[in-house]
Amino acid sequence: MKQLLNSTFIGSTKVPGDKSITHRALMLGALSEGTTYIKDPLISADTLRTFENMQQIGAQVSRVGDDFQVISKGHSALNSPEDILYTGNSGTTTRLLTGLIAGLEHVSATIEGDQTIAKRPMDRVVTPLNSMGANITLKDEKYPPIVINPSNITPMEYHMPIASAQVKSALLFASLFQEGTTVIHETHQSRNHSEIMMRQFGADLKVDNKTVTLNGGKNLQASDVTVPGDISSAAFLIVLALITKDSDITIENVSLNETRSGIIDVLKECGANIEISKKSSDGEKFGDIHVKYTSDLKPFSIDGEIIPRLIDEIPILAVLGVFASGPSTVKGARELRYKETDRISAVVGELKKFGVKIDEFEDGFTVHPGFSVVTDNTIFKGYHDHRIIMMLLVMSIGVNQEIKIDDDSAIDVSFPTFVQDLHKLRKDR
Ligand code: S3P
Repeated sequence: MKQLLNSTFIGSTKVPGDKSITHRALMLGALSEGTTYIKDPLISADTLRTFENMQQIGAQVSRVGDDFQVISKGHSALNSPEDILYTGNSGTTTRLLTGLIAGLEHVSATIEGDQTIAKRPMDRVVTPLNSMGANITLKDEKYPPIVINPSNITPMEYHMPIASAQVKSALLFASLFQEGTTVIHETHQSRNHSEIMMRQFGADLKVDNKTVTLNGGKNLQASDVTVPGDISSAAFLIVLALITKDSDITIENVSLNETRSGIIDVLKECGANIEISKKSSDGEKFGDIHVKYTSDLKPFSIDGEIIPRLIDEIPILAVLGVFASGPSTVKGARELRYKETDRISAVVGELKKFGVKIDEFEDGFTVHPGFSVVTDNTIFKGYHDHRIIMMLLVMSIGVNQEIKIDDDSAIDVSFPTFVQDLHKLRKDR
């Protein structure tokens, strides 16, 4: 880490494939008849759990160099796993898989993850799934293990109480093969990768503003997927370049899906030196992001519709706030309390250790510019949360102070090459 201090970051790079898209490609590949080739997937602790889970229910999933291939005889050929489906640290695997297994109707399975998953609420997917006819039980009616028994699913209309792509996707996965119409209404539009990819694989699905309508009962056909870089991983490099003097980097082929690109809108409002060059694509949009050090960043204030479009970028936006010219505020982000850890409390607690003034609210925070010297005996906490650990590393470089983190191993959940990639871009200042 020490070598990354007093550095500037220059050059072109790529970030690993999008996590959300990789999970969905593996799952839809398993549910479809034929061979699905997944190019440039994210190969990380989280996506390898989905990879193994699909093998356990009978799909032939393999690695071809740095790509994945899924061969399946379709959803009706999938079977009950012999062992528990272990989902590690991955909330997306846990929740989407619950819907997927319920939708197979004939399959029974138990889903369980690590100590962070054990504390994450699963009733948000299980309650609506059970009202569709699923037979799922939880520990204390809320937490994993998730025990799924065979059942009959009946499509329904559902008004989601929270904006969550994981909940929306779990319900869509459960409804894919049932005759009838499933209608899901969202409060704010959440990421739409499931909708885009399900259509690509042959599902009859329409989206009208915040309403998704799926006419189920169609068999899916395998289709190839090229995974763009993950904007949520790129966000750490973008903010690092903005706050370290003379930095100038280009990140190639990053997902620019509008349900994910809220951070770009915020950065433009802050006056960041950032340029986007879009490349054409029928399905998922992507392009290059060119970003340069910006000495006069304006503060930001976010709330409402934009929150789901940047939910995973809020920890790193807090770091940007430390370098802005006035206080920046995040509101309407209560959902952050239910991520890998309570991210509002983790961001506030860890940034305070850098001497940052930050006020905590139930649904967000206000971060003030400025920081002080970190004492030698300060130990930072990673909370087994990849995004908190990467936030701490970027902050440490931004303030030019070496820090000690109790456990930084969770980086491999979404960006296993993060530190190596920083070394490749670094130049002496
Ligand atoms: C994800 C949805 C979001 C996001 C998570 C990935 C997905 O979670 O925070 O990292 O792939 O569907 P919620 O659906 O809980 O908001």
